[in-house]
Amino acid sequence: MRLLLIGAPGAGKGTQSERLAARFGIAHISSGDLLRKHVRDETSLGKTVRSYVDNGDLVPDGVVMDMLRKPVLAATSGYVLDGFPRTVDQAEASYAAVRALGVQVQAAIHLDVPREELIRRMLARARGAEDAEAVIEHRLQVYLEKTVPLLEYYAGREWMSIVDGARTADAVHEDIVSRIHKLAAFAPSALTRR
Ligand code: AP5
Ligand code: MG
Repeated sequence: MRLLLIGAPGAGKGTQSERLAARFGIAHISSGDLLRKHVRDETSLGKTVRSYVDNGDLVPDGVVMDMLRKPVLAATSGYVLDGFPRTVDQAEASYAAVRALGVQVQAAIHLDVPREELIRRMLARARGAEDAEAVIEHRLQVYLEKTVPLLEYYAGREWMSIVDGARTADAVHEDIVSRIHKLAAFAPSALTRR
């Protein structure tokens, strides 16, 4: 099974991806977690991307795509991709590559959470520079400018679901699982194929 979680900063992509990965025995691949690990480990990639991550700007497409290629190909039981693609350009550039390899996404979930709740969650978590109030504001602006057009580009596709992410993590998880099951009933081979 190959899934995509899309949502604003603080929407719960990481929280839900971990649960889905455990439930379905698939890999959780988070572009943000991988980038933060490079920054922590002070790798050369980490040094290149640090200011983008700390300031809440998107890292250049090529850097993110190069970084994700290996984990996506290694995820032979499937994956839940968290934080990628987040622009129309990234979706278009990666589609041809993954399709040729037969590892394209089979279902995408948009986690929809109101702005006030996103801010509340990020301020409560305070994950370093990127969760400072001004940077949170900037990340939300980048989301509106770059990722909302991606949601519009995907709108209406039968493999795309919008889930109310403002409920408890358990309720959101069960809703996502039921959407996936419905999709599997509609197109059984789509979710069982590698
Ligand atoms: P990334 O790590 O993807 O950050 P983000 O999109 O800003 O989202 P977060 O990880 O902050 O939130 P989340 O949706 O995962 O929510 P979480 O589960 O943590 O990206 C970081 C940076 O990397 C970007 O700014 C950019 O620089 C770069 N980057 C990454 N991908 C890129 C790409 N494709 N292209 C270019 N650059 C890229 O939850 C948040 C909090 O809420 C937690 O404390 C959690 O416990 C809590 N919570 C979760 N669910 C619930 C719930 N249902 N109820 C109450 N609390 C909840
Ligand atoms: Mg995350």
